[in-house]
Amino acid sequence: MQATSLSSPRFTLEKLTPEQEVVSALVDYIRATSSPHERESVFSDAVALVKWCRAHSDEAGTLDAFLQEFGLSNKEGVALMCLAESLLRVGDDQTADRLIAEKIQSGDWHTHKGKSLSPFVNASVWGLMLTGQLVDVERHVQKETGSWIKKLSDRVGESAVRHGILQAMRIMGRQFVLGRDISEAISRADELRLANQTYSFDMLGEGARTAASAEQYYASYVSAIKAVGRFARHSSALDNDGISVKLSALFPRYEVSQRGRVLSELQPKLLQLAQAAKAHDIGLSVDAEESERLDLSLEIFESLLRDKSLADWDGLGFVLQAYQKRAPAVADLLAEMAAKHGRKIAVRLVKGAYWDREIKHAQEQGHIDYPVYTRKPYTDLAYEVCARKLFATSDVIYPQFATHNAYTLALITRIAGAEKPYELQRLHGMGELLYKHIQKGSDAPKVRVYAPVGAHKDLLPYLVRRLLENGANSSFVNRLLDQETPAEKLVLDPLLYAEKHHGNPNSLIPTPRNLYAGEASSRANAIGVDLDDQPTLAGMVNSVKELAKRALPVITSTAGLPSINALAEVVCPAEPNRVVGRVAQTSERELSEVFDQALAAQQAWAGKPVDTRAVCIERLADLLERDLNDMVAIIVTEAGRTYDDAVSEVREAVDFCRYYAASARALMSQPIALPGPTGEANTLSYAPKGTFVCISPWNFPLAIFLGQITAALVTGNTVVAKPAEQTPIIAHKALQLMGEAGIPKGAINLVYGEGGRLGEALVTHKAVSGVVFTGSTHTAQTIANNLLGNINAHTNGLVPLVAETGGLNTMLVDATALPEQ
Ligand code: FAD
Ligand code: 2OP
Repeated sequence: MQATSLSSPRFTLEKLTPEQEVVSALVDYIRATSSPHERESVFSDAVALVKWCRAHSDEAGTLDAFLQEFGLSNKEGVALMCLAESLLRVGDDQTADRLIAEKIQSGDWHTHKGKSLSPFVNASVWGLMLTGQLVDVERHVQKETGSWIKKLSDRVGESAVRHGILQAMRIMGRQFVLGRDISEAISRADELRLANQTYSFDMLGEGARTAASAEQYYASYVSAIKAVGRFARHSSALDNDGISVKLSALFPRYEVSQRGRVLSELQPKLLQLAQAAKAHDIGLSVDAEESERLDLSLEIFESLLRDKSLADWDGLGFVLQAYQKRAPAVADLLAEMAAKHGRKIAVRLVKGAYWDREIKHAQEQGHIDYPVYTRKPYTDLAYEVCARKLFATSDVIYPQFATHNAYTLALITRIAGAEKPYELQRLHGMGELLYKHIQKGSDAPKVRVYAPVGAHKDLLPYLVRRLLENGANSSFVNRLLDQETPAEKLVLDPLLYAEKHHGNPNSLIPTPRNLYAGEASSRANAIGVDLDDQPTLAGMVNSVKELAKRALPVITSTAGLPSINALAEVVCPAEPNRVVGRVAQTSERELSEVFDQALAAQQAWAGKPVDTRAVCIERLADLLERDLNDMVAIIVTEAGRTYDDAVSEVREAVDFCRYYAASARALMSQPIALPGPTGEANTLSYAPKGTFVCISPWNFPLAIFLGQITAALVTGNTVVAKPAEQTPIIAHKALQLMGEAGIPKGAINLVYGEGGRLGEALVTHKAVSGVVFTGSTHTAQTIANNLLGNINAHTNGLVPLVAETGGLNTMLVDATALPEQ
């Protein structure tokens, strides 16, 4: 078989390409493959479809009507979604009552009175209003008499409110689920089935946290395949019902860092499911999940294409998310893979259900850009490009188009024409009205309904995605029946939009690097490392290996005197028998030498403009980013941290540097005006204090260490620092970078040894003007006591102690929490 792919070198598999570059390639592709006449026809078909839906809005499902009134754009909608998301998980009545009270009180229910076309929704509004008012009354009563729900129950019967709301939430949840188990789902599917309509059953469950739950999800798929297969009547899998599988349900560590195990443990499970699906003549589609899993999914998918036991089966399917910038290149790749292995595959094109999460994740990780578009119409344009690519490779691909958007439906039906084979897909509980129109008549396209099956406990992540999808105002379904948005405005040609905006990213969504740009301490976000990118991860692993080949470091204090004490061994806590370096224990003589150096450097350092010091600290941040791989390797080796934690550690240190530099500039570059007690203007100037002693713990060997030091340095103090005795190599590397950043010798001084031995001598030294300590409360108290006798030589006052103590905190988790979060 030969794939007739219309591939373009401007589409790449690179995940984080700048948006404008990708959108410009999308625009060129669409200009080359569509005509203005065709676009106008799609537009008018879509407007007609919207108008038809509005004329038949009384046929819309209850949920559509409900979400129409309570979307995410009003606080009542948000309150209800929060309830729907968490209430059914709550095991005890008291917590349930409190949760209801909190959420219902936050709403202004009367604003929704009589607004909906649906009598059910209007009745619900009355119920909620009544509940809200009762709750409100009780809130006042509660102050004197105790629980509001108790009072309420007395009046309206046994927790009627709770039962009513629980019931409503159950109905809402069930709206999206076809059955509690596969046999219930199959019989309901048969009741609801229209002509030319098939189902893809999704056994609820994803993001397995344990091997046991992965095993359970696997077992539910095995039995679903058998059950669905029993009713397979057609010889082609594509004409029968099928199943959809989320790989994250089958294995608890479905992530790039566990690639070896994914291939040796997860892959065989999927292969067995695929073999079973083939044996039963049904289809099996691999759902698309978070973007960082795409490479692994493709790798596993190709291994199935290669597997001879699956030859001559057309039921294997892959889901392509148009919102990912690399989607057009992935469409090309899928066609190439299918052609290479002589297979025909199904590809379900979706826009993508994890958009909010993708944006947040990229921000948290400090990626250079987003893997998804930031403007909704760009996703629509990418959907069109992918759709055209799938149609162009229909010799190897059977395209399936999943959408609830009228424009997208009009587009697909128009470009498919009468002759191209394809199917449309919708989710159970969604898009019913639109599809009612599409499925009319004898020449209606084939439609498949994606139908979740399972218990409420496994529904939540799916439910949250659906509520977001229904409630987001960028979402088509949210405004389909909103008469205030004219059909001609609701429907939008994404090409015109992209041309008008020149492919510019959404200015309200800054790139992760610019996340803190507008803040008072405006600064660049620390660069992250994409450990889900295989070459990047391999580079990191290689840095650790290279470090192991280097000679073991021997660390000495900055006094530069020969140590009189023995060298202590530094061991890797992850491999307690492995010595990774040696450290000379600082002697008392060295200690006083170090303080002399700090004193000698004081005047010159304090006399520099704050901006000069801030520039040095910012340069340190840049150097940490430059040497990130090396720094991570040292942290992994010396502190035994995971790669992920080591990267976070460096990023936190970088952020400390930039944050303190920005804050010091704001506080110290000019006197600060403060109103005095009688309204007169006073000014306050911050000035350096002298020499600070900084004592940091092992648990954040770089971040807390540098956080303490850079705050003291940037404000013009000199520093004598004692890193944790377990992590001198990290401290030594940081010292080298501080030197390179322009921080003068003497301004920063390091001493090494156990706190018990060095601590008291350090904090009671007469040159000390302040102490910064992070660690146990007990040690902080000891230091505070030590300082009582230490009258500061410069100010004749007590030496200030800045202590961050008591690292063990209590976290209260109630039943409303999602345990995996
Ligand atoms: P529209 O309203 O036209 O599009 C909404 C979508 O636009 C959002 O979901 C998001 O993708 C995108 N978007 C929103 N805001 C922005 C923005 N600011 N910038 C850029 N893009 C934005 N999803 C998966 O991820 N994996 C699957 O396996 C999967 N399977 C599905 C199967 C079926 C049968 C169906 C119908 C859907 C499936 N989906 C899947 C969900 C699908 O991704 C959403 O339903 C879909 O995104 C909504 O698209 P739409 O065309 O219906 O709506
Ligand atoms: C989801 O689970 C439908 O696969 C899609 O959100």
